[in-house]
Amino acid sequence: MRIVIIGGTGTVGSKLVPLLAEQGHEAVAASRSTGVDTLTGEGLDAALAGADAIVDVSNPPVIAGGDSTEFFAPSTRNILAAAERANVQHLVALSIVGTREMAANPYMLGKIAQLDLIEGSAVPATIVPATQFHEFVTTIVDGSTVDGAVVVPDALIQPIAAADVATALAEFSTTAPRGEIEIGGPEALAFADLVRMNLTARNEDRPVTIVPDGSYFGAPVQERTLVPAGGAWLGATRYADWLANG
Ligand SMILES: NC(=O)c1ccc[n+]([C@@H]2O[C@H](COP(=O)([O-])OP(=O)(O)OC[C@H]3O[C@@H](n4cnc5c(N)ncnc54)[C@H](OP(=O)(O)O)[C@@H]3O)[C@@H](O)[C@H]2O)c1
Repeated sequence: MRIVIIGGTGTVGSKLVPLLAEQGHEAVAASRSTGVDTLTGEGLDAALAGADAIVDVSNPPVIAGGDSTEFFAPSTRNILAAAERANVQHLVALSIVGTREMAANPYMLGKIAQLDLIEGSAVPATIVPATQFHEFVTTIVDGSTVDGAVVVPDALIQPIAAADVATALAEFSTTAPRGEIEIGGPEALAFADLVRMNLTARNEDRPVTIVPDGSYFGAPVQERTLVPAGGAWLGATRYADWLANG
């Protein structure tokens, strides 16, 4: 199959492109560095010609003010329009577990716009809400640090390795559209425990403050907002093992 990976040079994309190629597919990395700009539409038609599937794992380089709508709305419109012109029969888009419940987090506004556009489109799709990447935990910990303490919600979190995300996306992009399927890591952890594991691995000694009605990057979260519901595809790599194996 010819599969175009939009954002194919990013954290997930750079793992997905070689994985699909190993499986015998023609995997095409599409991003600005390969001449494809989803914001302007430049290079999209050429990249999508003859494609059997598209995987969208793009992300804006800098999210000024945090609101990602200015990226995801025009990008997704351009991808869907180009997919229709090229008659591509499957778009797989990486989303985030709990996106619609976290509209108070400005980054999620763009991800909600992306969902709305895909759900309103005629392009057959698989939306893949994923939990937080192992690779993103340090950003979460540092972004949740206030006056030297890490302030976390009393909630569960179920991180997944980017390599496992790539494994799931390779499976989904080479099979029939499923509508939506959530993915997550192998175990739900208390948010505070995940933070402590990350701090220990970095030899950091910051206090961790658990807030009963706490939030995740500005969005109030309940105990299970960040974890997948039953029936999700689960990656194999535990955060502790990922840390230990560097
Ligand atoms: N981080 C998490 O924990 C997490 C959890 C669940 C879901 N997700 C979702 O996963 C997706 C991928 O995240 P990631 O961390 O792998 O992203 P990333 O490492 O930031 O990579 C972003 C990719 O998008 C490309 N890109 C940026 N602007 C572009 C443009 N105008 N046109 C074409 N390509 C463009 C970049 O390449 P160039 O710079 O070459 O253009 C790069 O390949 C995101 O949509 C995110 O919402 C993330």
